Amino acid sequence: MGVNPSSQSNYISIAIRHLSLEWSLDFLIRTICGTAVYELEVKGNEVAEFSLGAKHPVMGSALHIPILHPAIKGGSVKLAIKYETTTDCMALQWLDKEQTQGGKFPFLFSQCQPIYARSLVPIQDTPSVKFTYDARVTAVLPVLMSAILISPASTGPPHDGRKIGRDKVTYVFRQSVPIPSYLLAIASGNLRYRPLPVPKGKDWTSGVWAEEELVDAAEWEFKEDTTKFLEAEEKITVPYRFGVYDLLVLPPSFPYGGMENACVTFVTPTLLTGDRALVDVVVHEITHSWFGNGVTHANACHFWLNEGWTTYIERLLQQILRTPAHRDFSFLIGSKMLYDDLKLYESRPAYQRLEIAFEHGENPDDAYSSVPYEKGANFLFHIEHTLGGLDVFLPYIKNYVQTFMGKSITTQEWKDHLYAYYREHGTRDNVEALDSLDWDAWLHGEGLTLPVPIEYDMTLACQSNVLADRWDKARTSINLQELFDASDLQKLDANQVVVFLERLQSYAALPKSHINFLGSTYSFATTPNAEIRLRFYQVALLDPQSDAAREYAVDAAAWVVGQETTKGESEEGRKGVVKGRMKFCRPIFRALYAVDAKLALGTYRRHKLAFHPIARNLIEKDLGLISTDVIANIAN
Ligand code: BES
Ligand code: ZN
Repeated sequence: MGVNPSSQSNYISIAIRHLSLEWSLDFLIRTICGTAVYELEVKGNEVAEFSLGAKHPVMGSALHIPILHPAIKGGSVKLAIKYETTTDCMALQWLDKEQTQGGKFPFLFSQCQPIYARSLVPIQDTPSVKFTYDARVTAVLPVLMSAILISPASTGPPHDGRKIGRDKVTYVFRQSVPIPSYLLAIASGNLRYRPLPVPKGKDWTSGVWAEEELVDAAEWEFKEDTTKFLEAEEKITVPYRFGVYDLLVLPPSFPYGGMENACVTFVTPTLLTGDRALVDVVVHEITHSWFGNGVTHANACHFWLNEGWTTYIERLLQQILRTPAHRDFSFLIGSKMLYDDLKLYESRPAYQRLEIAFEHGENPDDAYSSVPYEKGANFLFHIEHTLGGLDVFLPYIKNYVQTFMGKSITTQEWKDHLYAYYREHGTRDNVEALDSLDWDAWLHGEGLTLPVPIEYDMTLACQSNVLADRWDKARTSINLQELFDASDLQKLDANQVVVFLERLQSYAALPKSHINFLGSTYSFATTPNAEIRLRFYQVALLDPQSDAAREYAVDAAAWVVGQETTKGESEEGRKGVVKGRMKFCRPIFRALYAVDAKLALGTYRRHKLAFHPIARNLIEKDLGLISTDVIANIAN
């Protein structure tokens, strides 16, 4: 048995080194059926009897397989398993054609992080085991995996007379860089490809995949920044190792903003705002190519090493490619999310910690929040400052990546290396600076604040705050037309608008007349930018007992399930798509529940199947439909 509290695999004794998949996708019965062949490295001498253990509600059933020939330490074993997925597979969402952009073909996609790869393929589902893989996948629609597409040609569907949606094609993939199981991924739908410009002298390519109807918009949204940031990242770290960096725009039920699957980052279609305002998410996922996909957390307890580092580096790039003020502004936006999440975990202080001591069988998704991102990034930011700034810190960052590339590490290993680096390459002052940090408070501290207050440059937040203060002062005014108009936002970008709306949430709730005026004058009630729309509803629902909250709850409910009617539009004007990204749907459902529990539950029940199984699980916990109790998990 390994030390990963979220897995039952005995990866300490034996570990997967290569996986060969032979899969067939069936959109009618919604299963993947096939064979998995494993090359395993024997690390210890224990072997088990063949058996399928009882199903643990979080961790699944342990599959024990005896090794018939005596296995010697250092030797290898080959194993084949024929199997098929079930309709309960947590990793997969099968969409009807009506749930896609084009409406003509069905769609399939996976989400394996943190612990769902095991529902897609029998596997040692721990990030401390890394393996290469190859796959042959047969389907009637184009397929992508977290690997390099070897054939047919990598620019889209076949041109040999076979028809999309009717004729079977076998797609061949190879992932020759060892990856953890959570980076396994598959998607299939009516996908098209557009290449992105690659700087001279690179040995990688980059491109965008999306449904046929969205691919041009997707190309436009990402073509300016993607390869520019990838190149900047290589300068800070080491060259990109995966050969291909593609983006795939998924249907709206995708539960995350982005997911850094190897070779192909999956993103939510809500990034396509037409103004490149949300490319930060792509910068974040690119960064995982080194922090996470290269240097990996050993298990869920050390998840912050992935997300904290990635968030820290993503913001460092803001400073390098934009301005230092942009970096600080991102920290400021994050500090509100951090505070909100720390507050949500007041009854669960163990999840307020950076390094989390998960119990055996606890679901890491229950602890998913901005804590590992924001506390982690602030800790690194604070270490950078304590050491004396980027001149001292940047060489260490490169060394960290070089040292642990391809490995999976714990917080202790990270800390030991940090000390070792400055002992060897730094001054006595550097080591003393490290000694001065309150390690225990940062790693194991609970509560609503950071161990040290961190100050950020407020330049970019200033205008947002001034405007919010004006609204607060006008709360008793009846002549809003004289005080505010659309030009108030002229000089604010989308992130500054977000900060304006967040600042408003820090005051007492505004009266309904003000919310109405805010929604119409600034178009917040109809904006297609989901980041802004979410914050607007949070402002409107701030006081659950208010008239404004009751009225806007109905709008927010319609928005989150894609049933809103845009005013002034015809009957067919019922447009909009489900807001499957958990960052949007979970706070909306929670806010609805506080205002009108019946509305929240009814809305959810009617549209449940529009959400990904992972999102369903968490929304149901948020709405009290299922328990998050750890003891219940273990006892079951
Ligand atoms: N790897 C995460 C998404 C994830 C984490 C999925 C844990 C499942 C379990 C991804 O890199 C991420 O952080 N996405 C963020 C992007 C944001 C921080 C820019 C998201 O989806 O909101
Ligand atoms: Zn991330």
